[in-house]
Amino acid sequence: MTDLVVHPCEKPLRGSVPVPSDKSIAHRALLLGALCNGKSRIRQWAGGEDNESTRGALEAMGVAFVRDAHDMIVTGVGLFGLCAPAVALDCGNSGTTMRLLTGILAAQPFESTLIGDASLSTRPMMRVAGPLRARGARIDGAPDAARKNEITAPLRVHALPEGTYLKGIEYELPVASAQVKSALLLSGLYAHAPTTLREPTLSRDHTERMLAALGVPLRTLASMVELDPAGWSGSMPAFDIALPGDISAAAFLLGAALLVPGSSVVVRAVGTNPTRTGVLDALRDMNAPLVVEPRGDENGEPIADVAIAASETTLSGASVTAERAIDEIPALCAIAACARGTTTVRDAKELRVKESDRIAAMVTVLRAFGVECEPRDDGMIVSGKAGAPLKPATVDSLGDHRIAMSAAIMALAARGGPSRITHADCIATSFPKFVGTLRALGAAIDVIP
Ligand code: S3P
Repeated sequence: MTDLVVHPCEKPLRGSVPVPSDKSIAHRALLLGALCNGKSRIRQWAGGEDNESTRGALEAMGVAFVRDAHDMIVTGVGLFGLCAPAVALDCGNSGTTMRLLTGILAAQPFESTLIGDASLSTRPMMRVAGPLRARGARIDGAPDAARKNEITAPLRVHALPEGTYLKGIEYELPVASAQVKSALLLSGLYAHAPTTLREPTLSRDHTERMLAALGVPLRTLASMVELDPAGWSGSMPAFDIALPGDISAAAFLLGAALLVPGSSVVVRAVGTNPTRTGVLDALRDMNAPLVVEPRGDENGEPIADVAIAASETTLSGASVTAERAIDEIPALCAIAACARGTTTVRDAKELRVKESDRIAAMVTVLRAFGVECEPRDDGMIVSGKAGAPLKPATVDSLGDHRIAMSAAIMALAARGGPSRITHADCIATSFPKFVGTLRALGAAIDVIP
């Protein structure tokens, strides 16, 4: 177990840094690379633990991977080439691994079991099991004592009997979710009839972009998507993809720059897919001195350098929702701590079922740093301290990488001594070089094993 001791910043943060490659896109590249025919190359492999969980699960089903400097090479086995795993598939802390894999496993002629760590084992899985069952899959989970009609891991996905196929489905997602949408689209690769999905608002669309690039017959219209396999060969070619930087990781560096007055930081080559840029809109609403410099696109995903320019601007509170920014709300709450006026986070109830209950967790962290805030069922109200310093704190990550990083950037803005973030190892699930990157910008952080 590792703790971080974060010292208050004596001077502004400065520099130009990369971020780890996008975790969401990397999961999809691994899964689709495994189902393609031939060798695919995934460039800018970041090696975060969540992505390693997806890789490990695929390896247990006979997919070969080779690391080549900064790249990961996957030898695809084709849509029907996965082998029955001899062990339970360990998804670690990664909800994306468990939910997307369930979509693929639902269509396999072998049985499999998916397990996860303590946090993942409490997360709701009926959202994928329900619609997959409706298309003919047999999936069992552990009944959830606290929530009616809910199941959690371990998940047992039964073999689809020989000669049977998943049915077509027309499904309206009750909550926008890229994980549920992607699980259904991946299962739709094996169905003999269309998969038609509608979301309340469009969630991240990396799966759609990648499937379309691989020649899968997919049509999208606003928050609707349809995969109609009629006439499709059922085979996908190997690919070569350069992963963009993860905007969800970049949010913590932008946050650090905003919390330490006078900082000037550029985060290079960040993925700016419009389904992910809610955080940039929220920062603009908060009056942040944000500069976005487009750098073209890679494999259908737009990229930009994103900077916080040194300025005298005072951040102001704003109204923030989870739309296109679900993973960045903890960072936005940390930033709101030093804004003028209140920031209201609403329509973000999904935060309660992430790696931790992120509403409760962030309220605890903010209060520990001396910030007034009130939880709401679907968010919170943060009273910014504009100008008044945060006080140093000792806080626990609750095993949640984004809570640990949110606390760490607040600690940079505290006055009166260092802060301690306990159980900070979880940061490696998404941002293995977090401490090194902040140090490169001028922060003083000790890692205590
Ligand atoms: C993800 C989708 C989001 C997000 C998660 C990654 C993905 O979850 O919070 O970190 O890669 O598809 P939901 O689909 O549950 O909103």
